[in-house]
Amino acid sequence: MKKIIVCGGRPLNGKISVGGSKNAALPILFACILTNGISKIVNMPDIGDVRVAIEIIRAFGAKVDRFGDTVYIDTRNLSYVRPNPEHVSSIRASTYLIGSCLSRFGECDILPFGGCNFSLRPIDMHIDACISLGAQLDGEKIVAPRLRGAEINFNKASVGATVNAILLAASAEGQTVIDGCAIEPHIDALIDFLNSCGAQIVRECRRISIVGKRLHGGNTRIIGDMIEAGSYLALGLLCGGDLKALDSPIEDMHSVFDAFLRLGASVVAEAGELSVKMIRSKPLFISASPYPGFPTDLQPIFAPLMAKKCGGEIIDEVWPERFGYLHSLSDLGIRWNLNGNRATIYFSEIHCGKTAAPDLRGGMACLMAALCSSGQSEIYSAEVILRGYENLEQKLCAIGADIKIEDI
Ligand code: EPZ
Repeated sequence: MKKIIVCGGRPLNGKISVGGSKNAALPILFACILTNGISKIVNMPDIGDVRVAIEIIRAFGAKVDRFGDTVYIDTRNLSYVRPNPEHVSSIRASTYLIGSCLSRFGECDILPFGGCNFSLRPIDMHIDACISLGAQLDGEKIVAPRLRGAEINFNKASVGATVNAILLAASAEGQTVIDGCAIEPHIDALIDFLNSCGAQIVRECRRISIVGKRLHGGNTRIIGDMIEAGSYLALGLLCGGDLKALDSPIEDMHSVFDAFLRLGASVVAEAGELSVKMIRSKPLFISASPYPGFPTDLQPIFAPLMAKKCGGEIIDEVWPERFGYLHSLSDLGIRWNLNGNRATIYFSEIHCGKTAAPDLRGGMACLMAALCSSGQSEIYSAEVILRGYENLEQKLCAIGADIKIEDI
């Protein structure tokens, strides 16, 4: 267990770098299981979820070496073993074992797949995709001696189910067409990586066409993390000062920029540096929806910003119940009301206090609220925040924050 001790109320100045995207890195790591060869992946973030994913694939016999932000993965000698349930239950991306293990080994244990616990997180669409390609449920396992291409029609955009369908089809016999797929930038990042491994995958709008191939090792650079970038830009507005985010995936962030503009800020992108400045704040309404909509993972991050400025409202079409984090924000003075699936955030006197990080993004929202209020705060269960933010203490201290992460 970790806690973050925050001496808040300081402006944040300078440049902060944005690392590789968590949600692009994780499917690519699990996709290596499908390949037979050595892959080189650069800009791999060193975050909790990635460390766990690497432990999971090492257990099948993968040789993984990290040099700085470059990771080499050798998957020439893999065999199936039941994954460690503790690892599997600590990250959501462990669901990608279903597609990758069925493809490589023809079997996968259905385990208690984990991740942030802000809502019920069903896997029915993942299982349906497996069954479409010829897999069968067998007690607590799913098995498929052969996978054959098929037509898959998703009736909602699911990142995880789209990733698994791609992993299943990439080396199945014949052609698969997936309709209704998610189109987040990390889906294209996965497709690019698999194509570098010899796959034949094309995405057009919400349709992905795949011809199954034998895959060798590949090369890729993990795209920048738009959620980390959006978090730092929001933090800069919240704390004041002159903060610039480097290495942001600017082309993926239109809906985020639009939200900053509607809040009354200007967004400046110059020579790869991104900054936002408040001009005249206005109440903000956010409706989170699948890409290219405003990301659900940033709605908790915008809540303290709304509370500090003019208030606003949030609905989340992806996870309609993703508002548990508001209880933790109450400990820091943020006032809100939940009416069905619509959260109203009131203008609030944010103050220091003690609270617990409820999940990754909700925890970051708590840290942000603590950073903008004078006095000492303590954020407990802080290890969940480190699952998705790299070198957090060093990065924030370098721009003038006063935080210390301690083991408890
Ligand atoms: C991914 O989760 C991300 N996790 C989440 O980020 C993110 O919030 C989410 O996508 C949406 O962008 C990873 O990439 C590891 P989904 P995932 O399947 O894939 C429903 C973070 O903070 N659904 O796109 O699990 C589901 O209930 C984390 O970094 C089904 O009904 O999300 C939801 O309403 C949190 N049946 C919607 O689809 C299924 O079988 C979208 O979920 C699967 C999903």
